[in-house]
Amino acid sequence: MKLSENQNLKTYNTFGMEVYARQFLQMESADEVPAIIQDFLSKQPYYILGGGSNTLFTKDFDGVIAHPVFEGIEVMEIFGENVLLRVAAGEPWDNLIQYCIKHEYFGIENLTAIPGLVGSSPVQNIGAYGVEVKDTIYKVEGYRISTGKPFELMNIDCQFTYRNSIFKQALKNDCIITYVWFQLSTKEHFTLSYQGLANALAERELPLKLRYISECVRKIRDEKLPDPKTIGNGGSFFQNPVVSIEQFQKLKAHYPDLVAYDAPDGCKKLSAGQLIEKAGWKGKRLGKAGTWKNQALVLVNYGEATPKEVLDTAETIVKDVNTLFDITLEMEINCI
Ligand code: EPU
Repeated sequence: MKLSENQNLKTYNTFGMEVYARQFLQMESADEVPAIIQDFLSKQPYYILGGGSNTLFTKDFDGVIAHPVFEGIEVMEIFGENVLLRVAAGEPWDNLIQYCIKHEYFGIENLTAIPGLVGSSPVQNIGAYGVEVKDTIYKVEGYRISTGKPFELMNIDCQFTYRNSIFKQALKNDCIITYVWFQLSTKEHFTLSYQGLANALAERELPLKLRYISECVRKIRDEKLPDPKTIGNGGSFFQNPVVSIEQFQKLKAHYPDLVAYDAPDGCKKLSAGQLIEKAGWKGKRLGKAGTWKNQALVLVNYGEATPKEVLDTAETIVKDVNTLFDITLEMEINCI
């Protein structure tokens, strides 16, 4: 492990917030996790930080931040038309995508270019372009912080739903995920339910190949989303809200172009980005924070924004959307 004191976190969060952690601990192997829990995490406030692409630090952190840096992708088994991969928590997500393209493993190509680490992917059940990571996760390994004991949770026990899992609910802040197992397909198959992706492939007259699908996703992301390397942001700041069919019909009567997707229990999932845009917030700024010009759901740091400016912007957006639609947007991002 590598320990540093009074660590500037600016390069450890994609929002680029300049805040400090009293201690910062790089976990260099899964084997050292039990000792780290006992010697550091059990004694003070802690936070497990992956790639920092879904975290908004709102102030200095008076405790220890534990960050996995151990990497590795291992083929555990090939059976029938499936492959089982065991991937270390510190592996950058997009490296796994590249590996799968190279070896022709199908299933997660639509999740190309999502920032962050593999260990964080089950926590919020990352998803994009018609695919959620829950569709490919076989099981998750890690340690419980409260007991220091190892755990293994099979897919069904992770309680995955839209942008949610047991790691954000009953086990919130009580797990260090060390490995994620993925079950992918060795047989060609694609998910092209997201119209924008199907259109992009058709427009470019590209054949249905793993690497072209991945390239198209990267292009769509580049067009819609700001690159966190140049403009600080944490991806979607809010979740897409789920409303009852009655509320949806009422809103649709006022806003006929309202985008909606089917959600469980006969509900409808609306597009938070569209609601924010209709509330007049697309590309708008409040101080040095604001929303992205091509995707209003993404809050950005236009340069040296303080956490307060980002939070004030978020609060104002929530208020304005609520006034217009009677919907309260929930944050997708973790505020620490
Ligand atoms: N829309 C607007 N205005 C906007 C943004 C979107 O009208 O400013 C409309 C679009 O025209 C489209 C609909 O809303 O009809 C949906 O937009 P988009 O396809 O961009 O997806 P999203 O629902 O806004 C979700 C994920 C993204 C993911 C995309 C693509 C959430 C919270 N976000 O966004 O994930 O990339 O779908 O599948 O579910 C992330 O989590 O950080 C993230 C970027």
